[in-house]
This record gives sequence, C-alpha cells and structure tokens, in this order.
Amino acid sequence: MSEAQGHAVARSAEGASPCCAAPLELRGVRKLFFPGTANEVVALDGIDLEVPAGQFVSIIGSNGSGKSTLLNAVAGTFPVTAGRIVLGGRDVTRLPDYVRSRSIGRVFQDPRAGTAPDMTIEENLAISLMRTKRSGLRMGVTNKRRAVMREQLARLGMGLEDRLKAGVSKLSGGQRQAMSLLMATIVQPSLLLLDEHTAALDPKVAATIMELTGEIVTERGLTTLMVTHNMELALRYGDRLLMMHAGRVVLDLDHEQKAALQVSDLIEKFHEVAGEAFAVDRMLLDP
Ligand SMILES: Nc1ncnc2c1ncn2[C@@H]1O[C@H](COP(=O)(O)OP(=O)(O)OP(=O)(O)O)[C@@H](O)[C@H]1O
Ligand SMILES: [Mg+2]
Repeated sequence: MSEAQGHAVARSAEGASPCCAAPLELRGVRKLFFPGTANEVVALDGIDLEVPAGQFVSIIGSNGSGKSTLLNAVAGTFPVTAGRIVLGGRDVTRLPDYVRSRSIGRVFQDPRAGTAPDMTIEENLAISLMRTKRSGLRMGVTNKRRAVMREQLARLGMGLEDRLKAGVSKLSGGQRQAMSLLMATIVQPSLLLLDEHTAALDPKVAATIMELTGEIVTERGLTTLMVTHNMELALRYGDRLLMMHAGRVVLDLDHEQKAALQVSDLIEKFHEVAGEAFAVDRMLLDP
C-alpha cells in the first residue's frame, strides 16, 4: 500500500470524513420466491424508498414481513423480480453481490457469519482493509495496517488490540460481533446493512454492541439500514423508522415523529396500519 493509500484508509478508519456515504433509492422493487408455483411468496411487494446519504434507518416488522429480503435485495444476494435499486447514483440492480460488497458493509444476526474463524484477528481485519481494492495491492498484514487495526480495536473497549494474533474462533459471541461491525466499517462503506445484529447476544452484550453501532454510524455519517425486532431500540436509534408488513413499508416516521412515540404507540400504529393483530411478544421481550 502506498503512503497516500495508507493515509486514505487511516482517515476513513478514523471516520474523519463521511465522504463516501451514499444515498439509496429503491423504485418499485418486488421479490417473488417460487414465482408461478403453488408455493409463490411475495416477499417484497413494490418497495419505493429514498434514503439520503448519511441517514440511519431502523426497520421493524413482524416475522416474514420482508425485512431481510429487503436487505438481501439491496446487497444483491439474489436478483429482484422487478424494480430498480440505485446506490450513490449508480444503478446496481443487475450487479452481482460480490461487486456490491465492495461498497456495502453487512453484519448479520449470527456472530459467526461476519468473521473467518480459522484466521486471526489481524488476518480478518486485513481482508476488510483490502475490501475495496481490486488487485495489484499486496494482501496481508503490514505494520501500517496493524497500527490502524490496533487503533480501531481499542475503541471497542474489549482489549482485542493486544490480541491481534488470536484466532477469531477463540472470541466470545459479543467480541465476534464487535469484530464484524468493525470489519464492515473499517473502510468507509457507501451503505451499512445490519440484520438483527444484536439479537443473538445476551442483553448486556447486545446493549454494548448497539451503543457501539450508534457511535460508529453517527461519527462516520454512514447511510445505514438496521433491521431490529426490538421496538424500543428502533425508537432510540436512528433518524427514521420504517415498519414493514406483508412485503410493504406500512409506516415511515421521521426523527421528530418517532421521538414523540413510545413502544405502546408503535404497537397501536401497527394495528391501525396493518389492520390486524400480530405477535408483538418477540418485539417487546427480546434484547
Ligand atoms: N430464500 C428464500 N426462499 C424462499 N422464500 C424466502 C426466502 N427468503 C425469504 N423467503 C420468504 O419471504 C418472506 C419474507 O421473509 P424475510 O426473511 O424477508 O422476513 P423477515 O421480515 O426478515 O422475518 P424475520 O423477522 O423472521 O427475520 C417470508 O415468507 C419468507 O418465508
Ligand atoms: Mg429476517
């Protein structure tokens, strides 16, 4: 890595510049699974959504309402059935996921999904630092990269900066999820996608990871879609709240509107908008 590139990574890793956060636009996005068969599922039923650069959006909704499918559609996990997805002014609808992943950071529910267990902490982070580079640059752990890693790991407050050579499989779920978050953001992504990324953690660790998420997203000004089943978290974090039901966005609240609401209001709103009762237990009780 050249001096200039080293500094670019360090700058974006420090989060000084929100230069690369991108706006996201979805137009008439539909996703059908098993179309034309008896098992057809309309997972996304015409999503129109404009997310300005740097906006932090929380997404809630009942089981099977299409939240993960929405994130998968944006990430390019599968082709959508209809509609258009534009990221940073570029139509990415037909781009494969591995191309989109150069500019999209993702963290999943399972802490094991975001890290390679057979590699060390520094090897995992080196891969993330190389994420946006095409070729011609040396892979691996250089002293310069190590310095960036130490600095970034230190902010997690878990002592991982002193364990660069530890295998990731030795880490706890919370530590791995903190690593996943760092890996998704160490090079500024155009977009960050979080799918129930604290749901598998115990409540105390989940709260730590959530606080860290809030800090990173806000400091870096990252465009973020965060799916959570926890209504309280959705109200507390983010600039905007979307509620999904049956493949549609049924409620879209801006910062002021959501600041005025309690969880009980949100449940009432859901009943009003969706016109039917749904199981809210998981949304209320889980971390
Ligand atoms: N790969 C797939 N193949 C077939 N059907 C799918 C697939 N992924 C999702 N679905 C279906 O699409 C619908 C939406 O699923 P999705 O996973 O997006 O819901 P969700 O809102 O994320 O729910 P949860 O809260 O349970 O995570 C569901 O009916 C689901 O069964
Ligand atoms: Mg889901």
